[in-house]
Amino acid sequence: MSAPTIRPATFADLPAITAIYANAVRHGTASFEQDPPDEAEMKRRMVSLLDGGFPYLAADMDGALCGYAYAGLYRTRPAYRFTLEDSIYIAPDRHRRGIGRALLEALLCESQARGFRQIIAVIGDSPTQAPSVALHRAAGFTIAGTLAAVGFKFGRWLDTVLMQRALGEGGDSPPAETRRA
Ligand SMILES: CC(C)(COP(=O)(O)OP(=O)(O)OC[C@H]1O[C@@H](n2cnc3c(N)ncnc32)[C@H](O)[C@@H]1OP(=O)(O)O)[C@@H](O)C(=O)NCCC(=O)NCCS
Repeated sequence: MSAPTIRPATFADLPAITAIYANAVRHGTASFEQDPPDEAEMKRRMVSLLDGGFPYLAADMDGALCGYAYAGLYRTRPAYRFTLEDSIYIAPDRHRRGIGRALLEALLCESQARGFRQIIAVIGDSPTQAPSVALHRAAGFTIAGTLAAVGFKFGRWLDTVLMQRALGEGGDSPPAETRRA
């Protein structure tokens, strides 16, 4: 089995990224969206992340894009500016080949290098998202809590699990105030 190559995502990746995310929206509960965004909307989101200085990564395997991950602000109020939320999606026929782990590890490195101090995973529908919980736990995240019945999709209530990991010195030292307020 070949190893994934992790690299910065580009606009050329948008068709594949849009398709992977659309599948997750239509058939899964990792995302609380109900209608898959089209490629133009996915491009708007990518531009917004890249313009904001956030990491957006792609994984290639056997010459094709097989997953992507990005981190954006956890919340937009200024005091949250050192805290990220991650998103990671792997093509369904490529699960369990180490791609998610490689993407998440690279995303953590990129996030830390950019001066962020905390990263949070908001994992929807915790009972069916055991792979995501396990992936984040393997990358050093710990469970911060569960929000019960905060989503409603496919005719049922969904919980979210919050997982958190410090980046670099986390809360042990003041941040470098290079990020815009
Ligand atoms: C969650 C997801 C990103 C994992 O990606 P992946 O490439 O399949 O994961 P990896 O093969 O890199 O696995 C890394 C570790 O995660 C855990 N893991 C991944 N899939 C798992 C599963 N089905 N069951 C249990 N543990 C699992 C394991 O600890 C694994 O390490 P191991 O293989 O050494 O045991 C993938 O299942 C996915 O895209 N799911 C749908 C979207 C989603 O839930 N995204 C997360 C949103 S927060």
